[in-house]
Amino acid sequence: MFGKKTKTQSIDKEQLELIENAQKRIKQKKRVYTHFIIFLIGAAFLILANTVLGIGEDFTIMGKEWFLYAILLWLFIFLYHAFNVFVIHKFLGKAWEKKQLEKLVNKQNERIEQLKKGLIKEETKMVQSKIFKTKTQDLTIIVAAAENNAIGKNNDLIWHLSEDLKRFKSLTNGHHIIMGRKTFESFPKPLPNRTHIVISRQENYHVPDGVILVNNLQDAIDAAKSDSQPYIIGGGEIYKQALNLATKIELTRVHESFEADTFFPELDLLQWEEVETVFYAKDEKHKYDFSFITYKKK
Ligand SMILES: NC(=O)c1ccc[n+]([C@@H]2O[C@H](COP(=O)([O-])OP(=O)(O)OC[C@H]3O[C@@H](n4cnc5c(N)ncnc54)[C@H](OP(=O)(O)O)[C@@H]3O)[C@@H](O)[C@H]2O)c1
Repeated sequence: MFGKKTKTQSIDKEQLELIENAQKRIKQKKRVYTHFIIFLIGAAFLILANTVLGIGEDFTIMGKEWFLYAILLWLFIFLYHAFNVFVIHKFLGKAWEKKQLEKLVNKQNERIEQLKKGLIKEETKMVQSKIFKTKTQDLTIIVAAAENNAIGKNNDLIWHLSEDLKRFKSLTNGHHIIMGRKTFESFPKPLPNRTHIVISRQENYHVPDGVILVNNLQDAIDAAKSDSQPYIIGGGEIYKQALNLATKIELTRVHESFEADTFFPELDLLQWEEVETVFYAKDEKHKYDFSFITYKKK
């Protein structure tokens, strides 16, 4: 019911505009015709004034009577008037103005859309950088794995490579180290100058003072929030769960295969990009060849 009323109003407005325009055009044309009649009468009067009444009889310009110039000037003014009404007002009139206005409005709308898109892009970037900032942690997995991905046996390491231990020490020094309960138990005592976060499902699991006990991996990561570079140090169960969350892997690849009961998950190289590799050949201190390989999540 209300919709119908609005529609009628908009038609009336359009019709009113059309009528107003038509009336305006009629008036304009009438004025041109009137001008034409006055011009004809005026021209005849000028000719008569000169030839019959003898007004300015002796006045000529370049050998021609003055009324000829006066009539030509008036003719020019009349033609200009007619041109204005029949050409300019017809083609560059209201409809033309409306079209130009529409064009201008469309252009402005396009510009506004572009600005909006730019703004959305900028907002997305800001949100992404915000997410990135809240995710400033470069959560790193540090692991030593054999060619067959073996990492441990009987809750112990399989090899002893002093250069690898040195690297582990220097990288993790001063940082939070996150580990499963079994890996924690494989240490004779907590490592110095590192904050230990131990994950266990046991509510009453006892840890020494200074060691943080949590019940799942996410809580472990939250507990290391203040550290921009926490390390996931194992073992097999925790590595498996952390692989999706980690952004970096510091892998020591021992170039040998071993019998083991704990393994590192197979790396999906579509997700991980090798960014650095340093090879070490075996020597009197190192029984096996090995490489330090850094991966970053793509
Ligand atoms: N080569 C290396 O770089 C390296 C590094 C570290 C360790 N390792 C080796 O890896 C072996 C140990 O690894 P692992 O896989 O047997 O054990 P682990 O990952 O160290 O610890 C497993 C324990 O962590 C807790 N846990 C795991 N997921 C959990 C979750 N979602 N929520 C709560 N608690 C959770 C459970 O503790 P509760 O049973 O108490 O609930 C589980 O029994 C050892 O041989 C060790 O020497 C090797």
